[in-house]
Amino acid sequence: MLRAALIVLSRNARLRRAMESGRWGRRLSARFVAGLHREDALAVVAACNQAGLSATLDSLGENVASAADARAAADDAILLLQALQEQRLEGNVSVKLTHFGLDLATELAEENLRAVAAQAAALDNFVRVDMEGSAYTSRTLEMVERLYRAGLPVGTVLQAYLHRSEADLRRLVALGMRLRLVKGAYQEPAAIALQAKREVDANFVRLMRLLLASGGYHAIATHDERMIAATLDFVREQRIPPAAFEFQMLYGIRRDLQLRLRREGWRVRIYVPFGSAWYPYFMRRLAERPANLLFLLKNL
Ligand code: FDA
Repeated sequence: MLRAALIVLSRNARLRRAMESGRWGRRLSARFVAGLHREDALAVVAACNQAGLSATLDSLGENVASAADARAAADDAILLLQALQEQRLEGNVSVKLTHFGLDLATELAEENLRAVAAQAAALDNFVRVDMEGSAYTSRTLEMVERLYRAGLPVGTVLQAYLHRSEADLRRLVALGMRLRLVKGAYQEPAAIALQAKREVDANFVRLMRLLLASGGYHAIATHDERMIAATLDFVREQRIPPAAFEFQMLYGIRRDLQLRLRREGWRVRIYVPFGSAWYPYFMRRLAERPANLLFLLKNL
């Protein structure tokens, strides 16, 4: 119930304006967001690298309402790729197609993604296309597949809660595309998504095994120690080497676990979000763990 309510609130434009413009709102967001500016995020990437962790940068924003904002988002991602190269940092970028204009026109989002992916190709880097709500799943997968087939270094995300994900996984893995497996962060109806945590977790483990057995370089993105233990059991049993896949976790969540896995010799990449459009991202993090609300109330 609380999870659903928080996800509904994450789309509330008035609350978003109030939170993003207030100083106290920004202070709260610091729990999950690396800062307002590119330099803040690059400093976090440098610190991650020093600790042996790689990173993926997300210049926050989604569901933009103008083509100019969509183009600015793509320009921003290009600057990030260039900055990573210039500062010799180990990291790539994660982008959202609604930030690149998918609500306005598929062609606009595709043009923007193509420009960012072309820059990544020139720098021998990689672009991860995050997965948003189910209204965008088909268009996201189709677009990423088109660009991947055109030879661009793009990959995307599969959500274990969606019934369709196993079929998508089998098709994309056969192409050789790099995938990130997550549980799924949006509110979806039973017709298209598993509802019970137990079922989502079981599907996560099944999809993790299919991904890691495929021989491609994939990411297992979770903070759930049981999902991580199942992954480690599987890679040990199948003799999959540590360099063949990576764990991914979000900035600000379970840093102890991030460092422990690294110390044990596993690859770990941190998702580092930054920027002033932090509200929807922040609310999804609250929805994942309503106990975070206590932290929010204490700060208020
Ligand atoms: P689960 O929610 O069961 O949590 C397990 C444990 O992790 C909790 O008990 C708690 O200890 C800790 N934890 C999890 N979330 C927390 C939080 N917000 N605050 C504090 N502790 C928390 N989703 C999506 O739909 N599209 C996408 O593109 C992505 N991309 C993405 C990238 C990366 C790198 C990660 C790690 C996650 C995503 N997600 C995502 C989000 C994902 O779908 C999911 O909502 C979260 O990872 C939470 O699920 P867990 O697997 O951590 O398990």
